[in-house]
Amino acid sequence: MAIYNILKEGDPALREKSKLVPKITPNIIKLIRNMLETMYDAEGVGLAAPQIGVLKRVIVIDVGDGPIVLVNPEIIEGQGEVTETEGCLSCPGLVGDVKRDKIVKVKGLNEKGEEVVIQGEDLLAIALQHEIDHLEGILFIDKATNLRKPE
Ligand code: NI
Repeated sequence: MAIYNILKEGDPALREKSKLVPKITPNIIKLIRNMLETMYDAEGVGLAAPQIGVLKRVIVIDVGDGPIVLVNPEIIEGQGEVTETEGCLSCPGLVGDVKRDKIVKVKGLNEKGEEVVIQGEDLLAIALQHEIDHLEGILFIDKATNLRKPE
């Protein structure tokens, strides 16, 4: 296990588009475990592989209900609208309000390579959209209004 260094805004890797993972290999499983450890260590609710400089489509999330791992995640449905205050481990000391879909359905592979569909509402929906944005090189600050220091 290892804790990775989290890249900060300004690092060009955060602006790249990440690549599909063709196969769940032992290296991908190791990456997932280390990403989870890094996320928990940093007390974040989500982490995307490009944030640790690995340009692969892997995200991990835990909004308090246990870890969710998604490889090659893809939003297949979205509905409603919600605006919440967001932050990001790659943009420390900054929060802002972002408008997103209130409910999303996301398809992807789990750690075992099985296809899963996850439906998220509110915080989970926001985390899924935020992390999937990272895979496209998009940061929440690109979409946020009222960027400010957290209270
Ligand atoms: Ni983020």
